[in-house]
Amino acid sequence: MPAEKRPIVIYGGSFDPPHRGHIELAAAALRQLRPEALYFVPGFRTPFKDFRPVPFAERRRLLEAALGEAGLAGRPDVRISSFEAGLRRVVYTYETVAYFRARHPGSQLYFLMGSDCLAGFTRWRRWRSVLKGARLLVGLRPGFARAARGVPFEALRGRFPRAASSDLRGELFLGGRPPGLHRAVLRAIGERGLYFSAERAALRRLISPSRYAHCLDSAGLAVKLAPLLGLPAQRAAAAALVHDCARELPPAALVRYAGRHAPRAPLFEETARRAPVLLHAWAGAARARELFGLRDPEIAEAVALHATGAPGMGPLARLIYVCDLACPGRDFEEARLVRELAFRDFDAAFRAANYVKLTYAFSGGGWVHPLSVELWNSLRTKKRG
Ligand SMILES: [Fe+2]
Ligand SMILES: [Fe+2]
Repeated sequence: MPAEKRPIVIYGGSFDPPHRGHIELAAAALRQLRPEALYFVPGFRTPFKDFRPVPFAERRRLLEAALGEAGLAGRPDVRISSFEAGLRRVVYTYETVAYFRARHPGSQLYFLMGSDCLAGFTRWRRWRSVLKGARLLVGLRPGFARAARGVPFEALRGRFPRAASSDLRGELFLGGRPPGLHRAVLRAIGERGLYFSAERAALRRLISPSRYAHCLDSAGLAVKLAPLLGLPAQRAAAAALVHDCARELPPAALVRYAGRHAPRAPLFEETARRAPVLLHAWAGAARARELFGLRDPEIAEAVALHATGAPGMGPLARLIYVCDLACPGRDFEEARLVRELAFRDFDAAFRAANYVKLTYAFSGGGWVHPLSVELWNSLRTKKRG
């Protein structure tokens, strides 16, 4: 009688970035099931998080670094599959299971996940066919449902830490070194310029340390508020990081740069004459495109309007407008109040930010950009919600 085949474990995810929680789960599955192979299957990209996705080749490199540090690299039973990435589209788990089913006929398949994914499992596309093809192998994490109605699963022995790539990305965008990542992964991220580390290094060369600190500070607040507004943290971080990238161009150079790269800034001539410093916002949007390759129109809008605001500005632009004023490094009382309000009632915080910025502009006694006043008026005529 032929020896029974050892099982196959599939571990899908974005691995953006791969962290200690992933590796612990995989190591536990290797110990418990002694599979013929455990496949990490990084997705091509993550739906709804696709601004500047870290490409598969880079995530593979990071995964290899994590496996190396954990002593799991080079084992024949630990593999990284390019199946999903190779299809160059969002791939559903039932398709991945079908692929491995065909590749390993007669083997018991397991699909590995943390219990944080279990509660939403019945919302996955064709989840019943996932269950037909594979058993679920679940690592229990604290604070998450331990069961999903009608979904059988096998639990891994042990308890696993709460870990979320999205939180880690938020820290990475701001130059943090989260302990949830292997040192080798952090090193590779820096070397490869991922998670805006290349942009931060370039930004440092463009502005003074205190301005750079203000940009990081704004990005920190933006990353915290973004999920509450349903905005991707990547876009929020990118826009906040670069919003003042043209702020320290001397006035004459700023007007020249803006004239060349952002001549369609509203009321360009008058602004250049009466309050040239305001052009740093439109010049910043152009510079972000030119130097950082940020071609996203929402980011361009957010950078261009962060100083004056404008009626009808989009959600990302509203976020950056608020964060520029209300980031923790602003040491005046109004900033603190707007910041606290932003977490409870963002629309109210946005109106308050406009009020504070306008009051500040009026108190200076100079020319006030009509866009700021138009924004004020538009907020008075709109129904408050
Ligand atoms: Fe600014
Ligand atoms: Fe700013």
